[in-house]
Amino acid sequence: MHAQAKPAFINDAPTKHQKLLAWVEQIAALTKPDRIYWCDGSSEEYDRLCAELVATGTFRKLNDTLRPNSYLALSDPTDVARVEDRTFICCEQQSNAGPTNNWLPPAEMRATLQGLFAGSMRGRTMYVVPFSMGPLGSHISHIGIEISDSAYVAVNMKLMTRMGSKVLDMLGDDGEFVPCLHSVGAPLASGAKDVAWPSNKHHKYIVHFPETREIWSYGSGYGGNALLGKKCFALRIASVMGKEQGWLAEHMLILGVKTPTGKKHYVTAAFPSACGKTNFAMMIPPAPFKAAGWEVTTVGDDIAWIKPGADGKMYAINPEAGFFGVAPGTSYETNQNCMESLKANVIFTNVALTPEGDVWWEGMSKTPPAHLTDWQGNAWTPDCGRPAAHANARFTVAATSCPSLDSEWDNPNGVPISAMIFGGRRSTTVPLVTEANNWNDGVYMAATLGSETTAAIVGQVGVVRRDPFAMLAFCGYNMSDYFAHWIDIGSKTSQTPKLYCVNWFRKSDEGKFIWPGFGENMRVLSWIIGRVEGTAEAGESALGAFPRYGDFDWSGLSFDERKYRSITAVTQSHWRQELKLHDELLTKLAHNLPAAMRVRYATLNNTL
Ligand code: GTP
Ligand code: SPV
Ligand code: MN
Repeated sequence: MHAQAKPAFINDAPTKHQKLLAWVEQIAALTKPDRIYWCDGSSEEYDRLCAELVATGTFRKLNDTLRPNSYLALSDPTDVARVEDRTFICCEQQSNAGPTNNWLPPAEMRATLQGLFAGSMRGRTMYVVPFSMGPLGSHISHIGIEISDSAYVAVNMKLMTRMGSKVLDMLGDDGEFVPCLHSVGAPLASGAKDVAWPSNKHHKYIVHFPETREIWSYGSGYGGNALLGKKCFALRIASVMGKEQGWLAEHMLILGVKTPTGKKHYVTAAFPSACGKTNFAMMIPPAPFKAAGWEVTTVGDDIAWIKPGADGKMYAINPEAGFFGVAPGTSYETNQNCMESLKANVIFTNVALTPEGDVWWEGMSKTPPAHLTDWQGNAWTPDCGRPAAHANARFTVAATSCPSLDSEWDNPNGVPISAMIFGGRRSTTVPLVTEANNWNDGVYMAATLGSETTAAIVGQVGVVRRDPFAMLAFCGYNMSDYFAHWIDIGSKTSQTPKLYCVNWFRKSDEGKFIWPGFGENMRVLSWIIGRVEGTAEAGESALGAFPRYGDFDWSGLSFDERKYRSITAVTQSHWRQELKLHDELLTKLAHNLPAAMRVRYATLNNTL
C-alpha cells in the first residue's frame, strides 16, 4: 500500500513540522487556493509583494523622493475598522465568554465557517506567514502562523511582527503555534479581474476558539480584523493563555522615562482605541523638562504582555514589532517622533493623496493642500465638506523606524514596570489624574473605566461606554474572571506597580479640550514618577491621591489654578451619576464578580 502522494507544496515546504504541514494541507483542501506561498520575511520578498500589490491596484507607490519606499492602500468603504459586533469568542460554555463578548457554540460556529471558507481562496494565493509575538526565543513570547489570501496582510505582518524563516527555525519540528486563518472572503472566478480591496460585504466573522487556541477570520482585510497577530492573538487568545499561566495580555503602551537623576523607569498605559496610546508612548517632554534631563522612550504603543519576575517585579514585553497607528491628528506639533517614524518605509491605509504623490490627513498641517485625492479616490478640495482621510486611517511602520525607540525594546526578559496608567476619553466627570490607594482599588478604577467611542470601531462615535481596562473588545474570556485574575496576580506579586487613572479629554462649556495634552502630559507623568520614587506630594480625594496645583511642575506652561480646578474637580453630582453606571456594569458582570469590587463600590457610594 502506498500512502497518497503529498501535494508538491507540502514536499517543498520550508519546514518538517508535521502538525503545521497537516494544517496547511487541510486548509488548502478547504479553501482551494490557486497557489501556496511560504513567507520567508526577507526584504526582497517584501519588495516583491509590494510591487505585486502595485500591479494589482491595491497599492499606489508614493513619491520616492518625498516618501521613500512607501505605499498607499485605499480600502473598500465598507471595510474601514474593527467590527466588534462580528467578533466572537466561541468557548464551550457561554459563561466563560461572559456578558461582554458575542458567543456562539463552537460546533455551530465551526459549521458556519466551514461553509464560508469552502473555496474562499479560489483564484488567489494562500500566504503562509510564520510570526513571533515578542522577541524570538523570549520566555514571554509565542509563535503564530497566519494563513491569509491577502498579500496586503503578508506585507503588513512583515512590519508588525518578527516574521519569516527564522520563526520556522525557532518552531523546529514540533514547537507550539497558534493557527490563525484569514480569508478576505472574495474568491476570484478564473480570468476575472480583481478589485483593489477584496473583502466580503455580506459576511464578516472574527472568531476565536480559546479552548483550542485557534483564530478564524473571514470577510475583512482591515487592521485588527485581518492582522491576526494583533488583537486576535496578542489580546483575545493571549488573555486566556495568561489567565491559565499566570500572566497578563493588555491593551497597553509601554514607555521608558529617565529622570533628571538618571534613574530609569518603565510605565504602561491602557487607553481605549484612538485615545492616545501612540501619542503618549512617543511623547516629547516640554523644553524645561527636557533641559532638566527628562527623557521618554518607546517600547510599544498598543499591546503589553506582562509576567511576574522572580524578583517580585512585573516585567513587560511589546509582543509587536511595528506600529499600526491612527493617522488623523498626527502632526509635528502633536507627535514629532511619530512623524519622524513615518518618513520612509511606510504603508498608509485610507489617508489622502497629494498631487505630488505624498500623503495628507486631517490635522497633519494647519492649512490643508488645495487639491487632494481623498481616501475613496475622489477629487477633494478644502471646501468640499468631506474629510480627506478616513477618521480611522492608519499607518503601518516598523518599530525600528521610531527615533524614540527604547534601547531595551527587544529585550527578551522585558522591562520592569513601576506604574500602570488607565485612561479614557471623558469630556466631564473624570479628573486629570488619580492614584489608586492600593492594587485592588486600582483594579476597581480600571474595571469601571468609561470612554467615549471613536472611529476605531465600526459604529456610533462619541458615546460613553464602560470599557474595563480598555479591554472590552479584547478580553477572550469572562470579564469578571479577568478582574479576579488581576486581583490574584497582584496578591502574588511583592513589588506591584502603582496604579493610576488619567483623563486628558475634559472639555470646557464651549466644547474645547481644556488640558493641552500631548507633550504636556509629561507633567502628569513626572508627578507619577515622583510618587513612585516617594518625592512628589499629593492631596486626598474620595477617589484617591491626586496632585494639587502646587504639586505640579508648571515651568514653561501658563495654566492657571482656576483652569486646573476645572479638570481636577471631583463634582459630587457627576459622580453620583457615574456611580450609577458603575453599578450597572457590576450588575451586568455579577456572575463571578470578585467581592473586592462591590466592597470598593460601597465605599465610594458612601463617601461621594
Ligand atoms: P489604537 O491604535 O486605536 O489602539 O489607539 P491609540 O490609543 O494608540 O490612539 P492614538 O494615540 O493614535 O490616538 C489618536 C487620537 O487621540 C488622535 O485624535 C489624537 O489627536 C488624540 N490624542 C492623543 N493624545 C491626546 C492628548 O493628550 N490630548 C488630546 N486632546 N487628544 C489626544
Ligand atoms: C485598535 O482599534 O485598538 C487598534 C487598531 O489598535 S486595530 O489593529 O485595527 O485593532
Ligand atoms: Mn489598539
